[in-house]
Amino acid sequence: MRAIDARVLLTGASGGIGRAGAQALTKAGAAVMLTGRSAEALAALADEIRDTRPRTDVQWHDADLTRSADIAALSAAAQAWNVNVLVNNAGQPSFGPFSEFEPAHVEQVLRTNLLAPILLTHAMLPWLARRPAANVIQVGSVLGRLALPGFSVYSAGKFGLRGFSEALRRELAGSGVRVQYLGPRSTRTRFNDAAVLAYNEATGTAMDEPARVAAALVELLESDAAERFLGFPESLAARVNGLAPTLVDGGLRRHRAALAGPRTEATRVDPAPATSESSIESSAHRTPPSRR
Ligand SMILES: NC(=O)c1ccc[n+]([C@@H]2O[C@H](COP(=O)([O-])OP(=O)(O)OC[C@H]3O[C@@H](n4cnc5c(N)ncnc54)[C@H](OP(=O)(O)O)[C@@H]3O)[C@@H](O)[C@H]2O)c1
Repeated sequence: MRAIDARVLLTGASGGIGRAGAQALTKAGAAVMLTGRSAEALAALADEIRDTRPRTDVQWHDADLTRSADIAALSAAAQAWNVNVLVNNAGQPSFGPFSEFEPAHVEQVLRTNLLAPILLTHAMLPWLARRPAANVIQVGSVLGRLALPGFSVYSAGKFGLRGFSEALRRELAGSGVRVQYLGPRSTRTRFNDAAVLAYNEATGTAMDEPARVAAALVELLESDAAERFLGFPESLAARVNGLAPTLVDGGLRRHRAALAGPRTEATRVDPAPATSESSIESSAHRTPPSRR
């Protein structure tokens, strides 16, 4: 779909990638309905967009996507506004040793990152299916294809979201609804706290600016692609992981060490003995798989 024909409901609009996404979409000619939990932040962003592009149709509607009543109200508001694109971008971070997570944290992350986008898609699909053309874009992650130590619950959500998207894409093939999955790598937003930044530094993980992810979002919307992953080494590592996941296991020693103590073990350069696993380890050191 051309951005100029898109009327986009964008979740997570008040976050780093969401704000950049709203700016990039409206710059490309799309109308946007912004959503997040903070009415204040959404109103401020809507004003900012209107100031820059006075002719843009920009609306906002606050909603907590972990509440089913909010999902129903948001879906109704978006339909009344004549939406034809849903971008499920809202998300919650989760990083650390699995054994240290509280059950309530696990539940909240999966509710926000997996259940909410599935239920919002479910609420909106009958409407979207009646549009001449419509898109559902899931903002997943490279970690939805390549799981790293420290991201057990996060990857469970993002792998799940990718599985949901793949099945729905195949189910809706030939209909007017296109289902697409965007997999950013680590991106500079408030999503990544100091512990993640230390892990990134210790593992040599590259980070993108939100504007890069936003540009990829617009490109994906305007393309026929089913999936788009950002970052060459990350996409390659994700592909290798799909074919031979146990080969990748051997290349993640540094990531395990970084999880245990980022400034000690992880910063040490591992010798790379000449085994097939160690060649992945050493190539992982040169072009480390990234995350998110
Ligand atoms: N940053 C990265 O490294 C990275 C990498 C790959 C993929 N991603 C994915 O990209 C997406 C956006 O991430 P970001 O970096 O922009 O994060 P962010 O800056 O923390 O923004 C998160 C957004 O999600 C919204 N949100 C969270 N919980 C919600 C809930 N229960 N109901 C409604 N909205 C909720 C937040 O709204 P409030 O303002 O109301 O809190 C905010 O707008 C996420 O899905 C994330 O998994 C991020």
